[in-house]
Amino acid sequence: MQKPTIKRITLKNLMTFLMLLSLATLVILTVNFRSISVRIIEDKALAISEVVKAGLTSHMRAEIMAKRDYFLAEINALTLVNNVTIIRSKEVSDQFGTGHWREKERDHVTEQAFKSGRPVFILNDLEMKPYLRAIVPFIASTEEQLNCLKCHEVKEGTVLGAVDLRLDLTEYRNVTAKLLAAIGVVTFTFILLIVVNNFRTIQRYVQDPLNKLIKKSEDAYHTHTPINVDEFECLEFEHVAKEINLFTQEVIHRHEVIEKKNLELEVMSDEIEHTLQETIFTMGVIEEQRSKETNNHTLRVTKYSQLLGDLSGLSEREVELLSMAAPLHDIGKLGIPDAILLKPGKLTEAEYEVMKNHCQMGYNMLSHSKRDVLQSAAIIAYQHHEKWDGSGYPQGLAGEEIHIYGRIVTLVDVFDALAAKRIYKEKWALPEILTYIEKQRGSQFDPKLVDFLVENIDAFLAIKHRYQ
Ligand SMILES: [Fe+2]
Ligand SMILES: [Fe+2]
Repeated sequence: MQKPTIKRITLKNLMTFLMLLSLATLVILTVNFRSISVRIIEDKALAISEVVKAGLTSHMRAEIMAKRDYFLAEINALTLVNNVTIIRSKEVSDQFGTGHWREKERDHVTEQAFKSGRPVFILNDLEMKPYLRAIVPFIASTEEQLNCLKCHEVKEGTVLGAVDLRLDLTEYRNVTAKLLAAIGVVTFTFILLIVVNNFRTIQRYVQDPLNKLIKKSEDAYHTHTPINVDEFECLEFEHVAKEINLFTQEVIHRHEVIEKKNLELEVMSDEIEHTLQETIFTMGVIEEQRSKETNNHTLRVTKYSQLLGDLSGLSEREVELLSMAAPLHDIGKLGIPDAILLKPGKLTEAEYEVMKNHCQMGYNMLSHSKRDVLQSAAIIAYQHHEKWDGSGYPQGLAGEEIHIYGRIVTLVDVFDALAAKRIYKEKWALPEILTYIEKQRGSQFDPKLVDFLVENIDAFLAIKHRYQ
């Protein structure tokens, strides 16, 4: 999954917190606004009931109670005021009669107001037409200017009656809804503005400079030119760019030192490699001198092996190992007594058996080493008298049991030896040599190698002439 960007994380957090904040604000506002509105409406209901009470009292004192319906009709006609009714208490009915039929209507809510002597409010703001019903009792009092007991034959504190009215809250609710909607819209707009502003700020002051810094750092490393710190608007990025410049300079410096050291190491390694190569070759030459073999036999065998290795499709490293190891193929002859090694005539059977030991001796001299060059040389020393048909020595290996190095050196060693005069033989002419080699194809020599040699005889002859 792709990782989120700084911008995405910041904006997501910001959006979540702002949304929660505005939601909390809206809830608090709604609850408080409702409480305040209810309080105002209740006060309004109390005020209207006071007016009704004063109006009825004045009707009573003017002895025009029969006309009170006109007054109540006017009150009912007031905006938002509905269903204003008066309810007489039993005491007033007993004294003045039951009055208007409506003045007798009672329900459990009016009963509650009569019993408690306190106003009862019922708020219903969940319906389509929300309303507040208020039942405000009139209490017989001797205080203030009006002394109720002058007219009413009741005790002080008796509930004389009550006003029951309803106030229409539709308008209040609409105003509240509009106000909350306005607050919501303003809040949402500000959230949007804050988010967009942050989006642009992060893009401009974080994301863009960061991308620029990454690219400039790469350029600084590759082109060795420091980052221009003035390109960054913010102080933090300027600091980081400066640090990167210092770091890059250090890396470049170290890189140069390492490159120089590597070059020195390469030269040293080449020197060691050549020294080793020459040492091995010289060991071969020492053996060659002692055997009184033709000059440059070792060198030519080395070059022929290299060429045949190439023709056989060996890898570059394998050819390198083969050509480095080939000079040591007869190193074991250092262990053969002069009487046998340098004997001019044909060897007796016993002498020949001693002579054959040079393979094992060569192997013993070289195989102790873990270096692949000497390991290769050990194989060649051990196997360069093996024959493809298994009739060779010392192990009597056949076919591909014989290592490719062994098969190659066997062929080129014979190819060079036949062309040279030895203490035990005269040198052969090329046609004779080729006839012999082709005759031994598949018996003494690997047939494929014979084919490579015959097909490329000119290249082999070029070596022969060059290192005569
Ligand atoms: Fe040999
Ligand atoms: Fe040889």
